[in-house]
Amino acid sequence: MAATLKKVVEDCKVPGEFMSDGAEVFLTHSEDMPVSAEVYWSAFRDFVELQLHMEGHEKLRVLKGSGKVGTVVSFYYDPTDLAEGQREMKLVEKDDSTRTWRVQEAAPNELYKSYEMTIKVEGSTTAEKKVKRSNVRLRTKHDGTTTAKVTISVRFVSAIKDLNERRQDIAYHMVHLLGARIRDILNFVVREKLGGKHRFDLDIGCSREKMWGIVGNFNDVTWIREATGTTVNGIRRTIHFTKDRSLEVRLAWADSSDYLFVYEGDDSPDFLHCKYYRGRIQLFAVNPNRVRVTYDCSFLPANDSPMEEFKKRFVGAFSSGVAWLEATFSKPKTDREATTTAAGPPAFKKGAYSTSACGTVRGPVEEVWKVFRPFGRECMEYWKIYDSMEIEAPGNDVQGCIRLFKTSKTKSTIRERLEWRDDENHAEIYSLLSMEPPPPVTMSNTYTTVTMTAVGEKETEVKFECTFDVSVSFAVSRIQDNQKGAYMACINGLQQLFHSEVGTLEVVVGSASDLARTDGWFDADPYIVLAVNDGKPVTTKVCHSTQNPIWDERFQLSVTSRTRNIIFTVMDRDTVGQDDIMGTANVNLDELTSGKEKKMALDVQGGGTLNVRLYLKMHDKPKEPEGEKLITSLAIPFLAPVAQSEMDAIRNEFVLLISSFLGPGQKYEYEYMKPLRTHPDVPLEEYPAACVPMPTGEMFTPQKAGRLMERLMQFIASQGQIMVRLAQAKGIWDPWKANFSGYLPANERLIEEWQKDEEFCRQYLQGINPMLVTVCKDQSRIPAEMLGLKGQGKTTLQLMEENRLFIVDYAPMLGVPPTPGKFFYAPIVLMYKEQLAGGKSRLNMLGIQLTRDKGENEVYSPESAKTHPNKYMFAKMHVVSADNNVHQFLYHLGYTHLGMEPLVVAMHTHLPPDHPIHRLLLPHFKDTIGINYLARHSLVSRIFPITDPMFATSTVGGLIMFLEEWRKYNFMDMAFPEELKRRGFDEAGTDGLENYFYRDDGFKLWNVYKTYVTGMVNHAYTGDKAVQADKALQEFCRMTEGPGHLHGFPREISTKKLLIDCLTNIIFNVSAQHSAVNFPQYEYYSFIPNRPAQLSMPMPDGPNDMLESAVLEALPHETNTALQVLLSYMLSMPSQTAITGVEAMKDVYPDVHEKFHTQLLDLSKEIKARNEGLKGEGKVAYTYLDPENVAMSIDI
Ligand SMILES: [Fe+2]
Repeated sequence: MAATLKKVVEDCKVPGEFMSDGAEVFLTHSEDMPVSAEVYWSAFRDFVELQLHMEGHEKLRVLKGSGKVGTVVSFYYDPTDLAEGQREMKLVEKDDSTRTWRVQEAAPNELYKSYEMTIKVEGSTTAEKKVKRSNVRLRTKHDGTTTAKVTISVRFVSAIKDLNERRQDIAYHMVHLLGARIRDILNFVVREKLGGKHRFDLDIGCSREKMWGIVGNFNDVTWIREATGTTVNGIRRTIHFTKDRSLEVRLAWADSSDYLFVYEGDDSPDFLHCKYYRGRIQLFAVNPNRVRVTYDCSFLPANDSPMEEFKKRFVGAFSSGVAWLEATFSKPKTDREATTTAAGPPAFKKGAYSTSACGTVRGPVEEVWKVFRPFGRECMEYWKIYDSMEIEAPGNDVQGCIRLFKTSKTKSTIRERLEWRDDENHAEIYSLLSMEPPPPVTMSNTYTTVTMTAVGEKETEVKFECTFDVSVSFAVSRIQDNQKGAYMACINGLQQLFHSEVGTLEVVVGSASDLARTDGWFDADPYIVLAVNDGKPVTTKVCHSTQNPIWDERFQLSVTSRTRNIIFTVMDRDTVGQDDIMGTANVNLDELTSGKEKKMALDVQGGGTLNVRLYLKMHDKPKEPEGEKLITSLAIPFLAPVAQSEMDAIRNEFVLLISSFLGPGQKYEYEYMKPLRTHPDVPLEEYPAACVPMPTGEMFTPQKAGRLMERLMQFIASQGQIMVRLAQAKGIWDPWKANFSGYLPANERLIEEWQKDEEFCRQYLQGINPMLVTVCKDQSRIPAEMLGLKGQGKTTLQLMEENRLFIVDYAPMLGVPPTPGKFFYAPIVLMYKEQLAGGKSRLNMLGIQLTRDKGENEVYSPESAKTHPNKYMFAKMHVVSADNNVHQFLYHLGYTHLGMEPLVVAMHTHLPPDHPIHRLLLPHFKDTIGINYLARHSLVSRIFPITDPMFATSTVGGLIMFLEEWRKYNFMDMAFPEELKRRGFDEAGTDGLENYFYRDDGFKLWNVYKTYVTGMVNHAYTGDKAVQADKALQEFCRMTEGPGHLHGFPREISTKKLLIDCLTNIIFNVSAQHSAVNFPQYEYYSFIPNRPAQLSMPMPDGPNDMLESAVLEALPHETNTALQVLLSYMLSMPSQTAITGVEAMKDVYPDVHEKFHTQLLDLSKEIKARNEGLKGEGKVAYTYLDPENVAMSIDI
């Protein structure tokens, strides 16, 4: 297709005067458009939005402005096979009175020294005026006023050095580009302003290459129904149809690397009945034998028929053509298949009820069928629920034979007959004859059909379908459950048999070239660390002072699954400090053929090329028994074997932990966090100050230690039967449910709903991290790639104008250094307020962008999910993975636990126990030093940080992220009302977002606290002067802000107002805020797919969807997630000291206490009533800020 366009360009004669250096090229072109000037002109309302609809403008970004004159955009200009490059375009004129629009190249570049394009739109009144084109049938316009005459002119000076490329570019402008551009604009108007669009998605059972060979060839019309032939003339062709009809179309765009082809046509009153028509066809490979075709049409009805009416007719008529295309090009049945089908399965009476089960086995269909096909004893190898299975004597394993088997579960004996078997099509049908002892209900017409279908060369879909009748209908679901269990046991058994293949991989790390510099001017000392996913890594030698190292080293690695990745990490040896990561490269083992060597030049993410040779040899038999493998993978990270050299350091750390916990007495002094042993250069001493090891008064009571121990025991007990539950797992997400047991409850609703967009968005308002959702009112925050997203028919910008746009920006993740073997992003999520019936609304998804590269940034959205559902799901997982890291290291550990500790020490140091502020704050600091002490020595311990294996950022990455954010932190700015205001929310709810209960309940609680604190301050201080004169208070402030490192805390407090603000802020932060980000942990973290804390694979490149199995592979392994479940369970232990139990003011200012207590209980009642209402509507209640559930302090 691209060749067609290129030939036309080659044939074009370019005037000699255009070709000399510095020559100005001026070209102009006019065409009548089948819409009025006013409608056409509406396309120019927003420069940015318009750019999104220009073919060949890739990686669009807004550099300046918001769509009006002065706006500058950059894009990569890529006309297929012609000169391409980076460009920046500025809108310099938009005159509504003359309808003139002009853009200029913002700066000279490799393509153009200067470039200007002007478009002028006029109302055409000359009925007959048309562009002269010899072979395009022209229609007379009956009503000149409905036609816009559009004139496009370009004036440019080429900067292309290669003369042939320069000639091609000028010729391309002459023969194609000018017309194509104004029709791109027409197409935009037709689709977005007039609604003339519809997309068909087709799934065709043939390879993408084969389909592209047909569709991508301009001379081939065999894919168009009833087409009899075509006459091609340049980029135009006439398609001839039966009944002497014909249709003229022209090629509008083609890109063979993206499998994209766009064509369009004008008046076609007799055939398509359109004044204008455009078809945009793109092919995506689902697997090697299946292609997904998206066929996106734009149309403008002839005779000005109403659009909706026309659309109905058009879509209806077109659908049959689409169905024909699907049927015609799906793999035709071979003669053999046709014959077998003709012989066909026996006719049997279908029962009224049915059961089905399906799964994918990683093995070629012939091999899976070979294992499955025997009808007797051999089945027990994979179908492990049977105690015995025999073919009834004297039968052989042929059609009609009967098998007898006993299940280990029910102990009943069952007889089944093989009714039909088709080895060539991999299918069989068997029937149930009898059961002994007979079941309490009678089953009849029980036929099970098993079919196996190849999904690519290496995977097989296994499907069971059973129909049956039963004497009593209440038994149906029980029977279905049992059947499904038996079928899934078969599929799982086959999966285990095929997935346990193992092999060896020989890797020769050859050389690398042009590696990126990490050490400024100095050459690097590169070496490579390589590993197969989570396997043991191996390391090459270090090559000194070179960006083009040669290693030439050979390694042998073992491989446990064909779906694994080989990860090459290029490191730079640093004599001082930590070695740097220079980049990474990946190879999926699926790309290799067992027994064949493959040479590869890999692009290093980060810069450069790495040359390797790979030789994979898969063994035929499993190398180790399944049981052993399970036990090995069950080992949780902190129980993994540790090198002897580490043991002393660990022992010393524990001795210190225990001896300091026993404590030297009541001593409250600051100490600073010590550097990590592995990363001594990270300045953790800048963190909020901590208390010296554990004053005895801060130790947990025996009751609290006992409750923690009880919870730990519940967790351990829950792990007891986990192997059994794992073995019983049926569905793909079931292994992650195995953590739940009678001891640990499952969040059943979440397990059902987690994949839905509404649930994903709801968690931003009511989940574990309600801290990031932000009203988006600033266009510059929206990446250009996301401007094209739509919600309820509105563009991103329109939604923003209507205050319906919300953004979540994970910018803090940008500063986190890469972690080998884990992949994370700093995503941007856009959501919108979806209007629902009855005046209700909810937050819903617009899209996700994971990267912020200058180059290409892919956007994942509900729209992209239609063709790429797995990629979309994986993108959402990457978002929550980033969210977990931000939630835990910033909002939970950082801003509440660690951030508030300096206040506790300063209070004990400077405010005597009978000081009213000491009295006020004391209950709110209960157990904080104790829990922080434990966190510092476990979660982020210097020796064995538990967060290290759990989180994508690893411990050091999380600590660096918090360090960066802490440097910007300001205590007063982070006060609840201020923090919400910065995100666009207020107490009155003017943002209009419903169900943001963190906001609603938070404001109410803030007000109750403020009244309480005001009452206390009014009693204790007669006026501002009394506050200023309180020396102890001023010392407390100085210590907190200075050596305490609590940034933004006032160095001195001189007014009652400031004192009230500060104290309210402290109390809110340690009670409500911590409760909101702490206690929902188990609810949302325990089912790992909902919130994986890390993923082992990046988003895959390329136009295809990823396999579901690849998504599963990237999740932390199900047997290895115990840590996340354990932590979330321990840390969600309900507090025994709720805010409603605070009695700090009871004896000194009883009126203040009474009022506080009453207001809290009233608020609790109000929230409970609201939650009951929510439950009544089937919605999720938000209980975390109900005062009865709000802990008075950070105590867990
Ligand atoms: Fe906590």
